[in-house]
Amino acid sequence: MQRREAMKLGLGAGLAVSMAALSGRSWAQEGDANLQFDPEAFTELTTTITTAAGDREVVYHFYKAIPYVARPVDVTYQCLNVSVPIRIDGQAVDASQAPILFANSVGGYMPSSVANANGIDDSPPMGLPPGAAPGGIPGGTPGGAQVESGGNAMLDRGQRVSNAKLALAAGYVVVEPGARGRTLTNSNGDYIGVAPAPIVDLKAAARYISANAGRVPGNTKLMVSSGVSAGGALSALLGASGDNAIYADALAELGAAEGSDVMFASGAWCPITDLEHADMAYEWNWGQNPLPSGSLVDSKLSSALAGLFEGYQASLGLQGLGDFGPLTTRTYGDYLVQTYLAPAATAYLAGLSPTDRESYLAANPNIAWSGGKADFTWEEFLEHVGARRKGVPAFDALDLSTPENNLFGIDQTEARHFTAFSLREAMGDPNAELALDIPGKVVQMNPMPFLREANPTRAKFWWFRVGAKDTDTALTVVGNLTAAAQKLGDDVDTAMYWDAGHGANEDADAFIDWIGVITGYPPFSPPAKPPGGGTQASAIGVA
Ligand code: DHB
Repeated sequence: MQRREAMKLGLGAGLAVSMAALSGRSWAQEGDANLQFDPEAFTELTTTITTAAGDREVVYHFYKAIPYVARPVDVTYQCLNVSVPIRIDGQAVDASQAPILFANSVGGYMPSSVANANGIDDSPPMGLPPGAAPGGIPGGTPGGAQVESGGNAMLDRGQRVSNAKLALAAGYVVVEPGARGRTLTNSNGDYIGVAPAPIVDLKAAARYISANAGRVPGNTKLMVSSGVSAGGALSALLGASGDNAIYADALAELGAAEGSDVMFASGAWCPITDLEHADMAYEWNWGQNPLPSGSLVDSKLSSALAGLFEGYQASLGLQGLGDFGPLTTRTYGDYLVQTYLAPAATAYLAGLSPTDRESYLAANPNIAWSGGKADFTWEEFLEHVGARRKGVPAFDALDLSTPENNLFGIDQTEARHFTAFSLREAMGDPNAELALDIPGKVVQMNPMPFLREANPTRAKFWWFRVGAKDTDTALTVVGNLTAAAQKLGDDVDTAMYWDAGHGANEDADAFIDWIGVITGYPPFSPPAKPPGGGTQASAIGVA
């Protein structure tokens, strides 16, 4: 309202947004045809951020709820927040050329809005009201605990961790885009956030930032995306599909800004992706593991799917890292153990005191310790993990009950099949065919085809992480993303967190340091103390 009145009065849209931002309330339910970032439309906030180097007091400019498309479908979701560090521990910082962390808060492929956030990373995990303390998140690792989806709810051994806040405390600009998600409907009951809406929105948000280069603080050529789970999938997809033409029509329909959505780098934690192959991969990986109830899944369905994974994996033509050789269903178990799982277990066990290590080994008979190294086979690892989280098929459920069935809904249809296997199984018709729009949409939601086709405008730097006990999807998803990017000559940093469950992010500070390395823009570090005591800052009189 305020905005509409301001326009009537002939004031610029920028001022109106600025007034809305300053008043701390949501703005009008309409788009902004200019899509011009107003550098003056901020509120100044102060927050204390705990980093590996201790607590930092950060003064920052907070730009709230900026609509990022000219013709929004639902502006509550199609808006973004920007946070720009101004002073860190009393030191002035100039972030005008800093890397930009592009941190989505999508969880469960649900709608994610930043419109009511009262500061950086204030979009709560799903089910909690805005501003609520995240103390209610169950979990903690090791132990395979789960994190609630959404709100960028990443866990570091039981504590919530925020890449966005850590990036701000490192002197980087942070953009937090909202996006439509699968459950969103309009007043007609049409599903308006189903595929490909979430990725189209995130791309539109990135284009808004890049189109505002020079007005928005930070180096728009150094955008680094971040997300967890469904948000990790979208982060990887942003990285892989940068500026690809298959989204052009959808972006034009929204009135997206004339910018680029290329990411310089992409960070993805436990990405729930490669959805059309995820059921096969899941049964190959976790097919023999019991459900939480202790019973096994339908072995006929499970082995049929696992069998299909063999062909898919072979078709990728991927090599393992180092000189491992071809990644096939026959070699993949050993590959995961030697490349990721045993090193993760070794690091974990080496960090325990001898007494704690002895108790751990007594309680976990599948894991051995010899010569300062963890030792186990793939089969022993599977037994160590225990229960699988999902039934069969894990993603394209025969009863259409999964988040992914809903993600591929359309119009007033809440959920659809997106694999021929499940469609045919559910219908009892071996000749049933998927709806005609599905094959294009699964590609628009999947980073793998873009890596397979070597999209030239993809991110060239990748960070992948997943908990070793995360049974929300197969570990091959991260394995294949890594191998596919590596095959293209990209720079990939991948690791698994030992005994950690879904949503784990146990080396967030290392991710921030990595951004510094790949961009050549080191994170903020306080000046060294001069020998006589006192800080350099006070010695040279910087406030
Ligand atoms: C998420 C988790 C899932 O198991 C899934 O299938 C989709 C999304 C999530 O946490 O975002």
